[in-house]
Amino acid sequence: MGSDKIEVLDSIASEIRVCRRCSLWEKRKNAVPGEGSIDAQIMFIGEAPGANEDIQGRPFVGAAGKLLDKLINDVLRLERGEVYITNVVKCRPPGNRDPTSIEIQTCASYLERQIRVISPRIIVALGRHSTKYLFEASNMHYSGLSRVRGKTFNLNFMGLQVKVIPTYHPAAALYNPRLKDYLEKDFLNVKIAVRRENTSGFKQMRINQFFNGGRGNPLKSNAEKRKIYRRLKGIRSRIKAATRKAERFYLEGGDVSVKEREIKKLTKLKRKMREKFRNL
Ligand code: URA
Repeated sequence: MGSDKIEVLDSIASEIRVCRRCSLWEKRKNAVPGEGSIDAQIMFIGEAPGANEDIQGRPFVGAAGKLLDKLINDVLRLERGEVYITNVVKCRPPGNRDPTSIEIQTCASYLERQIRVISPRIIVALGRHSTKYLFEASNMHYSGLSRVRGKTFNLNFMGLQVKVIPTYHPAAALYNPRLKDYLEKDFLNVKIAVRRENTSGFKQMRINQFFNGGRGNPLKSNAEKRKIYRRLKGIRSRIKAATRKAERFYLEGGDVSVKEREIKKLTKLKRKMREKFRNL
């Protein structure tokens, strides 16, 4: 499957490199198909290549790319090679102008195919062009970036269920400290969404083990097990809510003692939960 994925992505990239579907090919040095892990859980979609990207044929390698890399490393605790990075439009619009809607429409089928092959759990839409494209392609009304940024949208992107988190474009944040703060906050939400995706898989595994007799006291009825499990679930969601609160608080530079109290409370709850689980 992995080698199939590589082959399909390589063939999309080869088509992009020789593409002449719109006039952007005339002034490009290199088309920029995208790069990253074929199994990426997170895909970042920017607008279109800039001057540096056009020279190197790689996405986000200029100043905006440095900021993107930093956010991926510092907030998500991931390496650039663990995610997939691409753009809605694959060739540089001259003078870094905005891509036109015709250019976006003409180029979109490449992105659509890339999304299908990689099949990410989460797409981070960087800026209004990629957000608008993803929303409209998923039959969702796009109401402006400031309204949707930082939120998680469960979209049906042409039959593929995916979580989309829109945020500001890193290039916009380079010159506007307020946008940079928002961008960091939004990345924290991406981190939370990733964690949720991962816990839900893990949680499902535990539930299956539990109800299929792999874990727990076989003498207890399923109804009883379910009752106890529901109680555990309640505690877990309280832990999640408290963690989110603590993370937000930390980011906003609040008093650390409040965070410490939160963590203490969390640890106590966790212990209680584990004990209950062990006694089942
Ligand atoms: N801006 C983008 O939208 N994409 C890039 O690859 C670089 C800058």
